[in-house]
Amino acid sequence: MSPQSSAPAAAAPAPVVAIVGATGAVGVELIRCLEQRRFPLSELRLFASARSAGKTLLFRGAALTVRELTEDSFRGVNVALFSAGASTSKRFAPLAVRAGATVVDNSSAFRMQADVPLVVPEINPQALRGHKGIIANPNCGAIIAITPLWPIHKVNRIERLILSTYQAASGAGAAAMEELRESTRAYLEGREYAHKVLPHPYAFNLFSHNTRVDPATGYNDEETKVREETRKIFGDPQIRVSATCIRVPVLRAHSVAITLECERPISPDEVRALLRNAPGVKLVDDPQRNHFPMPRDASGQDAILVGRIRQDISDPGGRSIALFVSGDQLLKGAALNAVQIAEVL
Ligand code: A2P
Repeated sequence: MSPQSSAPAAAAPAPVVAIVGATGAVGVELIRCLEQRRFPLSELRLFASARSAGKTLLFRGAALTVRELTEDSFRGVNVALFSAGASTSKRFAPLAVRAGATVVDNSSAFRMQADVPLVVPEINPQALRGHKGIIANPNCGAIIAITPLWPIHKVNRIERLILSTYQAASGAGAAAMEELRESTRAYLEGREYAHKVLPHPYAFNLFSHNTRVDPATGYNDEETKVREETRKIFGDPQIRVSATCIRVPVLRAHSVAITLECERPISPDEVRALLRNAPGVKLVDDPQRNHFPMPRDASGQDAILVGRIRQDISDPGGRSIALFVSGDQLLKGAALNAVQIAEVL
């Protein structure tokens, strides 16, 4: 053995990490996830718009000052976690890469680019290999719907998915969460409330997801994202997906009712066995007590709750299963998944 090969390898220095959009609903959860998971970093830098410059946020007991994001913000940054909307990502993520950082982007800006990995670490961590500086964090509804489906897909390919989402306010950001709180208070007190963030009255109501409807297909952008991203993450461009995405008056956990059709017959017991010890998933499936996944229970949890597992009786071939999931949109749907990607990196 040569003297060089027997010498211990020098440990890589802990990275400098930046959060872009640190003051947002996902941004504050990114800070919390880095802290709770003891992410090894030498420095954390927080960025947001000029409106937030000078604010302080706590990290590991220290008050960190939020800075305005500028073109020079990425000097010396090794990992940049972006959650400030697609237009900010489009403009600043390439600058971060040019400055030498690896970007994990929570927006939709780069997700469907062929040279950008779209990653759920429980499903396709291998996609990170050979990345070109930007890694995309998938759509929150897609992550929550498909993480529990992967163990099934691996052993009995899912050919078709029909799903309906019940999406929380957090998916539209901190201002939408505030609109839900404020409009609910106003409703209960009999006051008028002029909605500003979402396109319809939110208290005691629900409505079709607030994205553009494609006149050619009738599907809105959120529904199209779920379809296309499922295909990319599963590496299965043939899987047939039809989604209906609905915004519901829940603060921070998305739920999804899913009917899946496999290649071969499959039973509810097989599905339970596949999901019992699956990573990132927790079975909540107790028909006796009528206890199934609820957004209230999923809020603040890393695991996606899955239950109501039953044979879809409309399929006489026995190849279809119906189930229901709830997952914290801000955690596994966004911040946690991004930090898990950074950990794999
Ligand atoms: P700010 O709080 O200063 O507006 P949310 O998804 O909860 O709405 O949060 C969006 C996040 O993105 C916030 O931290 C927000 O900062 C940040 N942000 C929005 N626009 C920009 C921008 N042009 N440059 C940097 N950060 C931005």
